[in-house]
Amino acid sequence: TMPILEQCYNLMDFEHVARRVMKKTAWAYYSSGADDEITMRENHSAFHKIWFRPRILVDVENIDTSTIMLGSKTDMPFYVTATALGKLGNPEGEVLLTRGAKKHNVIQMIPTLASCSFDEIVDAAEDGQVQWLQLYVNKDREVTKRIVQHAEKRGCKGLFITVDAPQLGRREKDMRTKFQDVGSNVQSTGGNDVDRSQGAARAISSFIDPSLSWKDIPWFQSITKMPIILKGVQRVEDVIKAVEAGVQGVVLSNHGGRQLDTAPSGVEILAEVMPALRERGMQDKIEVFIDGGIRRASDIVKALCLGATGVGIGRPFLYAMSAYGLPGVDRAMQLLKDEMEMNMRLIGASKVADLNPTLVDARSLSAH
Ligand code: FNR
Repeated sequence: TMPILEQCYNLMDFEHVARRVMKKTAWAYYSSGADDEITMRENHSAFHKIWFRPRILVDVENIDTSTIMLGSKTDMPFYVTATALGKLGNPEGEVLLTRGAKKHNVIQMIPTLASCSFDEIVDAAEDGQVQWLQLYVNKDREVTKRIVQHAEKRGCKGLFITVDAPQLGRREKDMRTKFQDVGSNVQSTGGNDVDRSQGAARAISSFIDPSLSWKDIPWFQSITKMPIILKGVQRVEDVIKAVEAGVQGVVLSNHGGRQLDTAPSGVEILAEVMPALRERGMQDKIEVFIDGGIRRASDIVKALCLGATGVGIGRPFLYAMSAYGLPGVDRAMQLLKDEMEMNMRLIGASKVADLNPTLVDARSLSAH
């Protein structure tokens, strides 16, 4: 028998239910990683190499989990990251994530390849609710410019340019089930016929420009006033370049293990990046986010201790939405909120600003 919603006690529980109730093709698209899925597994297990160094006897009666990301206030230091094709998991699609985010005052990143239209997702938000845009850069820069400027006009507060996907990774589980029905508002493929035999990912991505480079950044800065964040940065040198390019943020991410297999996890890169930024006096010049494998609030707390401004969470919300619709998304966020308060209390931190590197022992991480 299938667990009822109240029997889901953590984010992994939603995954187990989703695996059983979802259509095979949808499950394959959401759950797959690239090649041998080594990076996808490491994203999660990297957090197990970090240990807490809790403080005692600090007043933790009241816990404040709120913080500011890119100038926007939010109740939680995590955001719903961009994941394409929400309607594969639930016929209502991404607007369910919008409504869940609204209830918990959490920020949502809207994917270029959402199943709902961009405007539907913005319209589902209430006044003042913060949303960001994830951008796949189209070979046709006029199309890109229109998307970016429309998002800014509609009130988006950040432009996350995905930089880890000049070519989509091979997600073999997804390829095997073949692509049948995306139900997406797919952008112009530039006249190319969609190849449906290669899985959902490849079928929808042929418009993405693999020639995108550092030289294009000034152009983005010239067409928008939104903060620009590079999503998918994977080494220290590129974080430094990002600071020098004058962008406002980076997401240390390997796309949920769906791109280059055996690329390092976001939290491993973070442990190397923050000391390098401090060494150069650059730590206040850029906001550093991470995503990948975050399943517990303890993972979030660890990332913040190591210096992240916030973290993105992808699959767990998709699974919660696929298994239980809006009540699932709501419960997933509430569970994280409860876990967050408990973890902060037990580590001895009453507010986000109290989280600092002395509260963790990250010496077992491999990346440095
Ligand atoms: C993604 N991700 C992603 N990223 C992006 O920039 N554009 C996109 O369209 C998508 N689509 C997408 C679909 C699905 C099904 C998944 C699982 C992921 C990557 C995503 O933003 C994020 O980097 C990872 O999902 C984070 O890892 P977790 O939380 O899923 O482990």
